[in-house]
Amino acid sequence: MSQNIHVTKTTESRASQLDFENIPLGTTFTDHMFICSYEDGKWQQPKIQPLAMIPTHPAAMALHYGQAIFEGMKATVNAAGEPLLFRPEENAKRLNFSARRMGMPEFPEDLFVAALKKIVNMERGWIPPQEGSALYLRPFMYATEPFIGMRAATSYHFIIIASPAGPFFTKRIKLYAETKYIRAAQGGTGEAKAAGNYAAAIRPTEIAKSKGYDQVLWLDAHEFNYIQEVGTMNIFFKINGKFITPSLDGAILDGITRKSVIDILEDNKYVVEQRPITLSEVKEAAANGSLEEAFGTGTAVGIAMIQAIGHDETEIHVSDESPVGQLVMDTINGLRSGKLEDKHNWMVAVNG
Ligand SMILES: Cc1ncc(COP(=O)(O)O)c(C=O)c1O
Repeated sequence: MSQNIHVTKTTESRASQLDFENIPLGTTFTDHMFICSYEDGKWQQPKIQPLAMIPTHPAAMALHYGQAIFEGMKATVNAAGEPLLFRPEENAKRLNFSARRMGMPEFPEDLFVAALKKIVNMERGWIPPQEGSALYLRPFMYATEPFIGMRAATSYHFIIIASPAGPFFTKRIKLYAETKYIRAAQGGTGEAKAAGNYAAAIRPTEIAKSKGYDQVLWLDAHEFNYIQEVGTMNIFFKINGKFITPSLDGAILDGITRKSVIDILEDNKYVVEQRPITLSEVKEAAANGSLEEAFGTGTAVGIAMIQAIGHDETEIHVSDESPVGQLVMDTINGLRSGKLEDKHNWMVAVNG
């Protein structure tokens, strides 16, 4: 399928204007975009073209009914300057999982990976070379059909844009356990990467920030006690030497970093339990001294060490050091920069 991607290159690259030491967060985009339309029941000619505005009909169904899903991944470079992707086929599968949940057409997984390889190869000059920095890739799909009425749209765009990114959270973070709003419940869309999940999280995140916290810690919809996940991360706790991460219960995202971190921890002989975990259990562990570490895991943030969790009027102190979190972070960064042996075959060369 990759041979089939029509390429129109920009006549003037903006890559040389980028200051890798000073990358503004989420506002710089590379020269090109990948775009493919779904019309008449099938995906049409895939294209890479200069980044451009896309005309949108005011009745485009994504704007009204929210049929919009996305993915997030990163390209890095090894010491030889060769771009690498991290488990891109997992993102392809998850995009299609989200598409099915939202009544959208699936995108061919081989074309998803081929398109990423091709655009990253073209945009290699935009990949920040420093460890912890990367070219963030944003594949997304949305309903373009102009129609007022509730049903699945018949036309869509699948697009990939790319944005260079520095390290996300460099400091230890504080979470706010939300007890009024929820992110997701079983049977909802929490396990899909649907745009609407993030829309509903914006207001609670602003409230958490206004209280001095970095991100929301989402709890279950019934008891507000079972821990789900964090803003754009899954979460791990180390209690009494063992790691615990909430099980995939249908309401949380099946994070690609999460599943990789489970393997990395097990490679390092740690026990990892995937099971329901309550905030009460975490509070009790903090009180009796058995809460040793906690960290969030996600593509954008990598590994974010958690210092404290605010809950009602109290604050749970987690820890001031995260030796295992640091080991996991170094392992992921080492794999992404090609410095560590890739024994799970996670890294994919873009011209390989
Ligand atoms: C809600 C949510 N949970 C978890 C994650 C972590 O997933 P991944 O490790 O695949 O980036 C993300 C980021 O994609 C997210 O948005």
